[in-house]
Amino acid sequence: AAGAIGAIVYNNTDGALNGTLGDPAVAKIPTGGVTAAAGAQLATLGGQSVTLELRAFQEARTSYNVIAETKTGRKDNVVMLGSHLDSVPAGPGINDNGSGSATLLETALQLGSSPKVNNAVRFGFWSSEEFGLIGSTYYVDQLSFEQQLDIALYLNFDMIGSPNAGYFAYDGDNSDGVGAGPGPYGSAQIEKTFVDFMQAARGVSLEGTDFTGRSDYGEFIAVGIPAGGLDTGAEVLKTPAQAAKWGGTANIAFDPCYHQACDNLGNIDRVALDRNADGVAWALGVYATSTESVNG
Ligand code: PHE
Ligand code: ZN
Ligand code: ZN
Ligand code: ZN
Repeated sequence: AAGAIGAIVYNNTDGALNGTLGDPAVAKIPTGGVTAAAGAQLATLGGQSVTLELRAFQEARTSYNVIAETKTGRKDNVVMLGSHLDSVPAGPGINDNGSGSATLLETALQLGSSPKVNNAVRFGFWSSEEFGLIGSTYYVDQLSFEQQLDIALYLNFDMIGSPNAGYFAYDGDNSDGVGAGPGPYGSAQIEKTFVDFMQAARGVSLEGTDFTGRSDYGEFIAVGIPAGGLDTGAEVLKTPAQAAKWGGTANIAFDPCYHQACDNLGNIDRVALDRNADGVAWALGVYATSTESVNG
């Protein structure tokens, strides 16, 4: 986030900040590392003149994915579900992605330890999605080829309670023929699992959302693992036809608070979240029992 700092004037010809303190001009400093409070404190030194420089560096820091797996079930045919835990710095990230990660946590709690599952179920709570899918990409890449083959499929849940919800499943077969291509073989069947359940059991007609690479399925499909999942839309505007089909408001975003401070506890369509949580649990149950339809 850019911090406004009282009296520092940004000289952008050489990347330096040449600040004449006491100058009433307000400049924006293009880094998250300098806070408005620090700037304001500098500004109180009115009458002094200082030179500030912006010197970029790469920071290395430790962060954590949280991985949980059932003790029962085949370890060589794992059903994996994932959601990112982090938010953008601008806001609390309740829809993006408290909605997905809370749903996965509750699904894991409800699954509990019985009955035994045929296929092991593994949950990934990803870190650093918002900085470029860092947590999930690291996770997939540190697996051996054998360990990647042991993952039968990956289901991703990122933004599943948008306040002006659309109802989307990742377009495994690229059936609309536009945008990103299809997912790995088996992804079309995963899409169908969600589409059929949501239609038959919840009366909701899903549309496809492209594998654009904007969420944590990215590295899974890059290495050939079939993938799918649900989302309720981000910054794109709901069309009049979609509003007629799903309710909500046409010509405003599915999530008008996407990546903003207002992505708070009020920024959830609880009906959409509930329906999608049912879809998550359904798909988990289907694939924990058998992935035959996906993997052959
Ligand atoms: N992954 C995006 C984010 O976290 C949002 C998104 C979710 C976009 C699902 C498309 C589909 O900001
Ligand atoms: Zn986001
Ligand atoms: Zn997200
Ligand atoms: Zn499709």
